[in-house]
Amino acid sequence: MNESKENRVPPDDQTVEMNLPNRQGFERVVMGSVAALAKNVGFGASQIEDLKTAVAEACINAVQHGNKNRAGARVFVTMNFKDGILNVSVFDEGEGVKGKPKDPDIARIIESLDPPVGFGTFLMRRLMDSVEFLKVGNQKHEVRMAMRLGG
Ligand SMILES: Nc1ncnc2c1ncn2[C@@H]1O[C@H](COP(=O)(O)OP(=O)(O)O)[C@@H](O)[C@H]1O
Ligand SMILES: [Mg+2]
Repeated sequence: MNESKENRVPPDDQTVEMNLPNRQGFERVVMGSVAALAKNVGFGASQIEDLKTAVAEACINAVQHGNKNRAGARVFVTMNFKDGILNVSVFDEGEGVKGKPKDPDIARIIESLDPPVGFGTFLMRRLMDSVEFLKVGNQKHEVRMAMRLGG
């Protein structure tokens, strides 16, 4: 992933950027960072727990679905706090989600009619105030999430 491409927004003095290996487990580094940033700007424990969960699910998906577990691929994360809103974006080098992720149908999963998938995106939508799945150029995908302080 080449971050110096034309549509890259230069980071401002509120923005943190992280460039991570495409390996499961590194989501913990992002969870710790987002928790520290959120705490600094006044988020409480319960919102911080929700943030950590949503961000971890987005990172796990970036590695697994976006970058297809490819060694050498990268996961890029930006976070900032502006106007009372904590924004987190998780970028991968994939083609993005096909269609809109649907809420899992628990009854169908219990009956083994549906595979037990779809909980990560479900949690993100439930825990964050907004979640968008965006294609960025040809070879980049962004999950853009936001949480309002005290919301
Ligand atoms: N970063 C991503 N890139 C491409 N597809 C994705 C990405 N994140 C999620 N998806 C798609 O959305 C589906 C639902 O994701 P999720 O709710 O986390 O469930 P799971 O990871 O268990 O499949 C995935 O199976 C995948 O098809
Ligand atoms: Mg997932």
